[in-house]
Amino acid sequence: MRYGYFDDANREYVITTPETPSPWINYSGNQEFFSLISNTAGGYCFYKDARLRRITRYRYNNVPVDSGGRYFYIREENGEFWSPTWAPVRKKLDRYECRHGLGYTRIYGEKGDIGGEVLIFVPQDFNGEVHKVTISNKGSQTRNIRLFSFIEWCLWNAYDDMTNFQRNFSTGEVEIENNTIYHKTEYRERRNHYAFYSANTDVAGFDSDRYEFIGRYNGFDAPQAVVEGKSRNSVADGWSPIASHSFDIMLQPGEQKVIVFVLGYVENDPDDKWEAYNVINKKKAKKMIERFADPKQVDEALEELKQYWDGLLSRYVLDSSDEKLNRMVNIWNQYQCMVTFNMSRSASYFESGIGRGMGFRDSNQDILGFVHQIPHRARERILDLAATQLEDGGAYHQYQPLTKKGNNEIGGNFNDDPLWLILSTAAYIKETGDFNILEEMVPYDNDPSKAANLFDHLRRSFYHVVNNLGPHGLPLIGRADWNDCLNLNCFSTEPDESFQTTESKDGKVAESVLIAGMFVYIGNEYVRICENIGEYEEAKAAKEHIRKMKENILKYGYDGEWFLRAYNDFGEKVGSKENEEGKIFIETQGFCVMAGVGVETGEAQKALDSAWKYLDTEHGMVLVNPAYTRYHVELGEISSYPPGYKENAGIFCHNNPWIMCAETVLGRGDKAFELYRKICPAYREEISDVHRMEPYVYSQMIAGKDARRHGEAKNSWLTGTAAWNFVAISQFILGIKPDYHGLVIDPCIPKSWDGYRVTRYFRGAVYDITISNPNHVSKGIRSLTVDGKEFIGNVLPIFGDGKVHKVEVVMG
Ligand code: BGC
Ligand code: NOJ
Repeated sequence: MRYGYFDDANREYVITTPETPSPWINYSGNQEFFSLISNTAGGYCFYKDARLRRITRYRYNNVPVDSGGRYFYIREENGEFWSPTWAPVRKKLDRYECRHGLGYTRIYGEKGDIGGEVLIFVPQDFNGEVHKVTISNKGSQTRNIRLFSFIEWCLWNAYDDMTNFQRNFSTGEVEIENNTIYHKTEYRERRNHYAFYSANTDVAGFDSDRYEFIGRYNGFDAPQAVVEGKSRNSVADGWSPIASHSFDIMLQPGEQKVIVFVLGYVENDPDDKWEAYNVINKKKAKKMIERFADPKQVDEALEELKQYWDGLLSRYVLDSSDEKLNRMVNIWNQYQCMVTFNMSRSASYFESGIGRGMGFRDSNQDILGFVHQIPHRARERILDLAATQLEDGGAYHQYQPLTKKGNNEIGGNFNDDPLWLILSTAAYIKETGDFNILEEMVPYDNDPSKAANLFDHLRRSFYHVVNNLGPHGLPLIGRADWNDCLNLNCFSTEPDESFQTTESKDGKVAESVLIAGMFVYIGNEYVRICENIGEYEEAKAAKEHIRKMKENILKYGYDGEWFLRAYNDFGEKVGSKENEEGKIFIETQGFCVMAGVGVETGEAQKALDSAWKYLDTEHGMVLVNPAYTRYHVELGEISSYPPGYKENAGIFCHNNPWIMCAETVLGRGDKAFELYRKICPAYREEISDVHRMEPYVYSQMIAGKDARRHGEAKNSWLTGTAAWNFVAISQFILGIKPDYHGLVIDPCIPKSWDGYRVTRYFRGAVYDITISNPNHVSKGIRSLTVDGKEFIGNVLPIFGDGKVHKVEVVMG
C-alpha cells in the first residue's frame, strides 16, 4: 500500500494523506541554516548546530507524535478552525496534499470553500525559513476569516532547553516591533544572536507568551486565542516565548491572498549589539524581512533553489528503462547524500540533534556519495575532520559543527576511524585531481601548534592500524569498529553505563577482521596516493603491510566458508561456525571481498555464497545470523538488542551495498542488483504499509527476519546507507568510476539489461556514455569508442575542455 506517489518531472514526492505511518519528513537549507519539515509542517530549524543554536522547539517522542512546527490556524466566521497542514488541529480536510521537493515543502489543505497552501523553505544564502501562505476562496460567497500563525522558540541550547527549567522559565525575553516578534533570550548577556518571526502584512494582533496564546491546559490543537478568535497581544516575560500573528482576511469569491512570513536568525557584531539601551540592533533582521516583502521575491528564490538543484543533479544522470532506478539515482539518492553530508548523524526524527554532532567515521563516508556534487565543500569537510585527528593517528569520534572541536562524548578509540579519512581523501582526489589538498597544513587535536600536512595525517591513519595489531597480526578493535555495538573491551554489567564509553579491558587482545579488510581496501588507496606523489619508498613499505594483512586474514580471519568477524578479549572467534549464536556477519564478507581478499583462491566467492545462504531475506541481508538471543557480556551492545533489530540481525542497510560492491568484484551483476532492489526505498514504495518510513530515502535499518515487525524500517535519512548505495549503484554496478587519472568504465549489471546511458560531469567536461549489452553479459567490455574513435582500455582521459564527449561502450 502507498501513501503517495513520485512526481519525477518536478522532483517531488507527493503525499496524499496526512496520516502516514510515521511523519515523513524533508530537509531544507544547504549552507548554515537548516530545517526539518514533516508532511504536516512539524519539525524545527537551527543555525549550524542542532544542539547549540536551536531556533524553534520540537518535542521528540511526544503524544501525539510530531509536536512542534510552523502552525497555521484558519478560523472561519462560525468559530470553527482548522489547519491547512492538518496538524496541529487535525480536523479532517476535504483535500490534502504534501509535496516534498528538493529543499522545500509545499502543503495544501482544503476544507469547504477555503483552501490554504503553506510553502516552507530556506532560500539560498539565507539564514532563515520563508513561509508563504496562500489562502483562497473557492466558493461563491464573500468570506471573512481570521488566520493565526504560531511557532515556539527554543532557548538556543536544545539540551538545556529540555532539562534546565529552573532557569529557563525565568530567562525568556522578546521585543515586538510592527509585524515582527524578536526572540532575544540571553542576548543581554553573552549571546550576540537573536531570532525573529515577521509577516509582510499588517497584523490584527499578536502573541509572544505561550500560556497567553495556548492557555495553560490546552494543546496546540486548540489554542485559547484561536478558540476565542482573538490574539492577546501578550509580551513574554520568562516562561515560554512564542511568536504568533493574527490577520483578518476578507476574500471575494475566487480571490486569494498571500502572506509571507520570515523566520530568521541574526548574529550581530559584539560592538554593535544594541540600537538603544537594551534594545537589540535590528538592522540585519530588517534587511532579511525586506528581501521577502513581496511574494514574487519568494517565487524567485524558490526558482533559484530549483536551478541550484538542476545544476547539482546534472553531474550524474542515468537514463535507463527502469523508472524507479532513474528516480533513485538521479534524484533521491543524490539528495539524501547532500542531507547526510550536511547533517552527519545530528538531526533527524530519530537523531535528536543533541546526542551527536559530526561523526568522524560517518562524515568521511558521507563524502563518498557527495563529493561529485560540490567538491570544494567536501574538501573543506575533509580538512575539518582531519583537524580533529589525534597525534597518534587515532581520532575523536565526533565534533560539534559550531565549534569544530573534537570530543569524546560518545566515546573514542574506535580503531576503524582513521582509515575512513584516507578513503574520503582518495575519493576527493579522484573526483578533482586536486593532489594539492595533501599539502594543506592541518592541526592535530585542533591545536594549530601541532599542524602537519594532510598527507602526514593519512600516513598516521595508515600506521595507526599497523601500530595496533593483536595476537593474530589483525587490527586491535579498540572501543569498536564500524559496528559501534561490537564492544569487545567493554564487559559491562551495569545498566547505567554507556556501551560507547565504558572500557574494562586493556584492549590488547580483541581483533577486528573488518578493520583488516578495510586496511587492505583503503590501504591500497593510500599506496596509490603515495605513488602519485612520488613517495615510492612509503608505497613499497605500505604494500608490504597490506600483503601481510591479506595473508593474516586468510590464515586467521577465514572460517572455511566465510570470513570471521573478530576475535574477542579471550582470543575466541566471533562470527564463526563454532559460535552458537552470531555465526556469520555481513561486514567482513562485503569488505574483504571488495578488498580482493580470496578472490583468486575461491574464499571470496564462498563467503558471498554464504552471505546469501545465511543472511538474505526478502527485505535485504541481515547483519548477523543467528541473532543473539541473550546478552553476551564479552560482545557488548550488539547482544543488547532484541533479535532482528539494529546491529543484532537487523537489515542494516549501510553494509548491504558492501555486498553489492563485492558481488561486482566477482562479476555477479545479477546478484548485486537483486540486493540493490531489495533495500532500495523506491522499489519498496508499494509496501509502504510494511516499510513505514519514507519511500524516497533510505533508512538505517529494516527489521530483520527474527523480529516480529520484519520489513519495518527505522532511523530514516541520516545513515551512511545513502552514500554507500550511491557508490554501489553509480560506480560499481553502472560502473562509472572516477579515478586518479581518468574516468573508469567498468559496468557490472544484470544480464537481462540491454543497456543504459549515463551523463557524467567529470573535471571540466561532460562524458555522454552509452552502454549497450547485445550479448547479455554482466561484465566485460568488447569495444569502446570516444567521439567516434576506437579507444583502447577503459580509463577515459581527462578532457577538461568544457565540451561534451560521446562515449560508446559495447559490453561482451
Ligand atoms: C546504535 C549504533 C550507533 C551508536 C552510536 C548505538 O546505540 O545501535 O547504530 O552507531 O549507538 O553511538
Ligand atoms: C550508526 C553510526 O552512526 C555509525 O557510525 C555506525 O557505523 C553504525 N551505526 C553501525 O553501528
